[in-house]
This record gives sequence, structure tokens and C-alpha cells, in this order.
Amino acid sequence: MYPVLKIRYGVYNLQNRMNIQQNFSLQPYNTFGIDVQAQNFATITTDTDLFTLLKRRHFEQQNKLILGGGSNLLFTKNVEGWVLYNQLKGIELFDEDNNYAYICVGGGEVWHHLVQYTIDRNWGGLENLSLIPGSVGAAPMQNIGAYGAEIKDTFEYLEAIHLPTGERHLFTHRDCKFGYRESIFKNELKNQYFITTVAFKLTKNPTAFNTTYGAINQTLEATNYMNEGKLTLKAVSKAVCHIRQSKLPDPKVLGNCGSFFKNPEINTATFEQLKMQYPNIPNYLQANGNIKIPAAWLIEQCGFKGKQIGNTGTHRDHALVLVNYGNANGAEVWQLANNIQQSVAERFGVIIQPEVNIL
Ligand code: EPU
Repeated sequence: MYPVLKIRYGVYNLQNRMNIQQNFSLQPYNTFGIDVQAQNFATITTDTDLFTLLKRRHFEQQNKLILGGGSNLLFTKNVEGWVLYNQLKGIELFDEDNNYAYICVGGGEVWHHLVQYTIDRNWGGLENLSLIPGSVGAAPMQNIGAYGAEIKDTFEYLEAIHLPTGERHLFTHRDCKFGYRESIFKNELKNQYFITTVAFKLTKNPTAFNTTYGAINQTLEATNYMNEGKLTLKAVSKAVCHIRQSKLPDPKVLGNCGSFFKNPEINTATFEQLKMQYPNIPNYLQANGNIKIPAAWLIEQCGFKGKQIGNTGTHRDHALVLVNYGNANGAEVWQLANNIQQSVAERFGVIIQPEVNIL
């Protein structure tokens, strides 16, 4: 059975007054930096805030958008109804044994703060996911992943409030239906649940690390991150941060949402045909027998890498990252994304799908 979580976000704090704003700019709340407005913007810092809203007249019929770090969203228009900004904070060790630490974390915690917290305590499992922008509550929604790890690898369960009924539900690993950048919350249950806490199972004092993916090993060799030649969680995390910072633009400097598209999977017959035409095509065999192709490579071959079109474009160091060079609106970015999608389809016969949520 699952333990009753102690974090309860000030249920007894009746003094708390929720912060609600009308016609509120969302520009600082999305990493693309798109300037649209929310009709109503509520900052949720306690469970009580949410229950108070749920009791409001007409709230049930109104449109609702749950916002975390805003790092996987492209706003193409103003948001009618409500934006519910998840600011539920707290990290709590709720169980431990000789090998594992079990923690539950408020959905409004910043993801990278959580990663640092676990590394400071020498709890392993999240180090390869260092520096991913966004919040803890949003992380399971799209099963965030990087450098050979995904949140599903350390996920225990989550608690969420069902907005239509106000009931609190618990989701196990299986309930979440995790896939590549997918979960039930991005599909059947889209916009239905407000994720309040996420629980993780982390390895105490780990001795095995996942450093085979990408440039982690090369980075560790080329830097002094290791402790006298000894691999540590901190060293792996530093290497991942180093790689990310060297090729992904900082959203505080240049608006972006990381990878805009998912890497497509194709069947072996289609792959063999493409390989005849493009012998250098990068490819990764999947457990289901399909082949994954980096969308960045397909986009680069179509001539989009580093290209600027008006206020938008793709990043010079990574073709998969669409950027806002200044005052781009969501429609411009979406137009560029459509052009890229079409070029890739015409040239390779492969359809690439956005990873980012388009609103
Ligand atoms: N490549 C190009 N051109 C480029 C960039 C990359 O051809 O401009 C090719 C290279 O062959 C390279 C391959 O693409 O080896 C893969 O590139 P990279 O290692 O950067 O990974 P990715 O597949 O583009 C995925 C995730 C990233 C994650 C990295 C590292 C997706 C959609 N993206 O990117 O996640 O950080 O792997 O694990 O799966 C994100 O989701 O926002 C994100 C940044």
C-alpha cells in the first residue's frame, strides 16, 4: 500500500488568500516568451486554493489550463477561462531502507532544484535529467527524458486532484501509461488532473551510473568533474549540465522550449529505402524493432539549421530547437513548425510530430 503523504500544503492555513489576477500576461510564464493573456490567473500554493476555486460558481464549465514551468507550451492565442499555476512546494523523505530513499515532492517544485537536492544527499536516479527546464508536476505528464534516462525509471506514484469532481486520486506507474514523451495525462486525461505530488524511489549511495549515452563519458574525461578519478553523482550531473549548456540555448536568453518535435520511429523497410539514398542517416534500433531517426538530422538536411525567419527560427547549434529571436508570436512559430514538418515529409516521407503542446 502507499503511505499517506504528510505534505498537505497548508490545509489548516485559513489565513491564506489565493492570488488571482485578471487579463494577466503569460510572457514571463512560458519559456518561449510569447506574450498572450490569461483571462484569469490563479496561483495555487495550497490544496485549499484549488478546492476554493472548484467551489466557485461556473468554474466547472470554464476552460482550465494547468501551468507548471511553461517549458513545453506554445501559446498561439489568449487563454480563456483559467490558468492554474502550480506552486505547491515541498520535498519530503517518507520512507527509506538500506538501499532506497523514497521521497514525495510538490508538483510546483522546480525540476532542477529537485535534482540538486537529491544529488546533495547522494541519492541516485535523477542525475541524467539535470537541468531539464520545468516543474515536477509537469515532468510525468510527458515522461521527461534525457541522456538515456526517463522519469519513469525512478517514478513511484503520483497524487492528483480530479478537476471535474475535486476528488484526490493516486496513480501508480502502470496507471500513468508512460511512453516516449507520453503519458495518460497528455492523452485520455488531458487537462483533467492537477498533479499535487510526485513520489520517487532513489538509490542510496549508488555505485553504478549511466554514462554511455551521448557525450557524457567524453565530457567526464575532458573535465575535472570526477573526484580523483572516481565517478560520483555530482560528476555525472555536472557533465550533463555541461553538455546541455553547450548545445541548448538558455530560455532566459533566447526563448525556446527545448526539442520542438519528437524523434520519429520508422519501420525497417522504410529505413532501408532511406539508407540507400542517405547512407549516413543516424539511426537507433528500438526494442520493438523499429528505427528511431533524430528529427534534428532530418531538419538540418532540409536546410533549416540556424535559419532565421522574421522573429523566429531554429537554433544554430541544434536544429530541433525552435527559438524566439525577440517578439515572435505563437502563430509565427507554429507557421515555421508547419513549414519544417512539410519539408521533412516531402523530402523523406517521414512525419515528425511536435513534442511541445500547442495551445
Ligand atoms: N543532430 C543533427 N543536427 C543537429 C543536432 C543533432 O543532425 O543540429 C543529430 C546528431 O546525429 C545527433 C542526434 O541528432 O547525434 C541526436 O541529437 P541529441 O543527442 O542532441 O539528441 P536529440 O535526439 O535531438 C533528445 C531529446 C532531448 C535530450 C537529448 C539528450 C527528444 C525529442 N529530445 O534530443 O530532450 O536532451 O535527446 O538525451 O527526444 C527535450 O525533450 O526538450 C530535450 C531537449
